[in-house]
Order: sequence, then structure tokens, then C-alpha cells
Amino acid sequence: MANLASGRANGLFGIYVHWPFCAAKCPYCDFNSHVRQGGIDEAYFRDAYLQELAHFASLTPGRTVQSIFFGGGTPSLMEPRTTEAILDAIAGHWTIAADAEITLEANPTSVEAERFRGYRQAGVNRVSLGVQSLREEPLKRLGRLHSVTEARLAVGIAQSIFERMSFDLIYARPEQTLKDWQSELQEAIGMGSEHLSLYQLTIEQGTRYFDLFNQGKLLMPDADLSADLYRLTQDLTEAAGLSAYEISNHARAGEESRHNLLYWRYGEYVGIGAGAHGRLLIDGVRHATATERLPEKWAEQVAAKGSGLVTDDRLTWEEESDEFLVMGLRLREGIDPKRYETLSGHVLQQKQIDELRALGFVEYLRNGNLRVTPEGWPVLDAVVADLAT
Ligand SMILES: C[S@@+](CC[C@H](N)C(=O)[O-])C[C@H]1O[C@@H](n2cnc3c(N)ncnc32)[C@H](O)[C@@H]1O
Ligand code: SF4
Repeated sequence: MANLASGRANGLFGIYVHWPFCAAKCPYCDFNSHVRQGGIDEAYFRDAYLQELAHFASLTPGRTVQSIFFGGGTPSLMEPRTTEAILDAIAGHWTIAADAEITLEANPTSVEAERFRGYRQAGVNRVSLGVQSLREEPLKRLGRLHSVTEARLAVGIAQSIFERMSFDLIYARPEQTLKDWQSELQEAIGMGSEHLSLYQLTIEQGTRYFDLFNQGKLLMPDADLSADLYRLTQDLTEAAGLSAYEISNHARAGEESRHNLLYWRYGEYVGIGAGAHGRLLIDGVRHATATERLPEKWAEQVAAKGSGLVTDDRLTWEEESDEFLVMGLRLREGIDPKRYETLSGHVLQQKQIDELRALGFVEYLRNGNLRVTPEGWPVLDAVVADLAT
């Protein structure tokens, strides 16, 4: 138990499974997702997932899995029996906690009750739906393949089949007004989900939106409107009992995503599938792992070498403690300064903290945790950079 003894582990362990295929590429998305018009040989890919799992299991013996997340891409394009095979393999390699959270991301177009029952039977107990908007025109502009009616239907099906569900919306979209977002968000809240992920649209390099934006063809909200949209989002969700536990994630108490909390609380996780990232503690050292992004190349490498690993970096204490800050300060619960000390070997600089407190950007909680205040969240990157120096 070198990891626990070193103080670098916090007992959290999860598994991320990346499914890198989508029915179409959305113009704003820079995630590792690929369209394969002719379909894929799913049995071939299934074998690769199982083989890569075995590889990572050999590096992380004795762990108890608290959460599993099928992300993408569009994992709801995966056959339920593939999901089942992966979950069975995980159960064979590690102990799965009795109350483990097992989430699958789904796009409303691929939601059919029958298929969803298959995932449920395979062991999935939570679904995260990519609704993105409850308005037809923005859905089209975002390149989404579903309609508002399909999105609402999918939410209903998910709610009837799974114990827990969430859905995502993207706001601060081109030409969106405060009034538009207010009515859309109110409708979303009215749909009764216990968890909502509400992301401000970001323009990512290498996407079609990036080119359109640079050609002046996307009228994005200015800084003031973005700030107002963010504030409105916090106010409406808070009033509805869905306050933010992380910058973009809102839930009723107890309904937070345990898998995402594991990332932000800086736990340990295995990442399998093309382009997946992981953080593993091996002999008291944190390793940052990443796999080959191109699905076919990834599968070939797995067949040849047992894993698609292309990166396996041993993090220095400084890198590790910086990551801990970057992740933890996104949370409303903040970070434990003592854990920072354990990871970095030194205390956080009091002078910096005092200055940020005077500006109202950070505060101490009664349990001793340090957190970024709602006023500090819009300037989070600067706050983290200040504390990390
Ligand atoms: C990569 S997607 C995977 C889930 C699924 N394929 C989907 O599109 O719904 C995860 C989430 O990231 C968010 N997202 C992706 N690109 C974004 C961007 N450029 N700006 C804001 N949110 C984005 C979307 O809300 C999406 O639901
Ligand atoms: S469906 Fe999701 S993962 Fe696929 S391209 Fe669109 S946003 Fe990206």
C-alpha cells in the first residue's frame, strides 16, 4: 500500500471508458470523436477494450472501483452487449463497490427504450444526455441531429429506466439573449432532472466554429453578457435547489456525479479507449497516461502491445500539486490545504491567499478548506495561477 502510505492517494478510484465514435461531427466539438460512415467492426473493438483493461488492471491491483464512466464520442452508439462485456471484465479485475456509480453518455438521437433497457441490464445506473438546447434553431446551428421533441422524449425515457440521470445544455451561444436563456433554462429545470451540466460555449481551435468565428460569422456574447448569463444561471439553479457544486455542474444534494467528483477531488482513475487520459498511482508516484487518439491505430496497438498507451509521464510533486489545485478549486467544497502540503511538500503561500481574500475571490470554510467564491469563479484561472506560484 505504498500509495496510501505516501499520502498521495485519497482512496478514490474510477474507470473512464472512451467511445470515440459519433454519427456526425458537431462544429464546436474538439473532443476525440470520429465518424465512420461504413460502421465499425464492434467485436474487434470490444476485444481491444478488454485487452487494454487487463493491462491497466495489472498496474492497479487491489483497488475498489467507485465509479465507471462511458464517455465520448457517443457511447450510446455502443451495443449494450459491448457495455456488458466491459463491465463484466472490470468486475473480474477489481472489486466494484456495491454503490458504484456507472454512467453512460447518450445522445438523444440514439435513445430507444429497448437499447436503454439493455444498458440498464448491463449494469449502467446513470445516464448523461446531450440535450444541448431546448430550442430548434440553436440545435440546428450546433449541428445536432435531434429535435427538441426527441430531446424531451429521451429525458423521459432515461428518467423511467435509470435511477439517476443528468442532461447537458450549452449556453452563451451566438446571438443568445439573457431573456432567451432565462426561459430555456427555466424549462430545463422544470423537466425534473436532479443534475444538470450547463456549459458556456467555448470556441475551440481546430473546429468549424473556430473558423467561422475568425471570419466574423459567429456573433458571440461579449464579456459583460457572458458574465450576466453566468450569474443568471447560478441564480435560477440555486433558487430551484440545483446549486453549482462545480463551475458548470449543478445538482440536488447527494445527486452530484461521483465520477466527476473523483477527478476534481484528485483521485485515481484508469482511462481506456482511444484518446483516454488516466492518473495512476504506481509505487507512490502519480502517472499521467494517454492513449493513441485514432481508433483504428489504437486498436492495432492494443493488439500488438496490450495497451494503446502513447504517454506515461511520472508527475513531479510540483506538477501533481498544481493539478490538485486546478481541479479542486473548481469545486464549491474547495480544497484541503493540508493535502496540498502533503502533495507539494510546502504550504500554500499565505500572502497570496490574503490578497485573494481581500479581493473576495477566495475564502476559508469552517472545516478549514479553501475555496473560490462565486465572485472568484469567473476569474478562476487567474486565481489558480496566483496560488500555484
Ligand atoms: C464531448 S460531449 C460527449 C457527449 C455527447 N456526445 C454529446 O455531444 O452530447 C460532452 C459535453 O461537452 C459539452 N461540449 C462539447 N464541446 C463544447 C464546447 N465547445 N463548448 C461548450 N461545451 C461543449 C457538451 O455539452 C457535451 O454534452
Ligand atoms: S456528438 Fe458529442 S462528442 Fe460527438 S461530435 Fe458532437 S459534441 Fe462531439
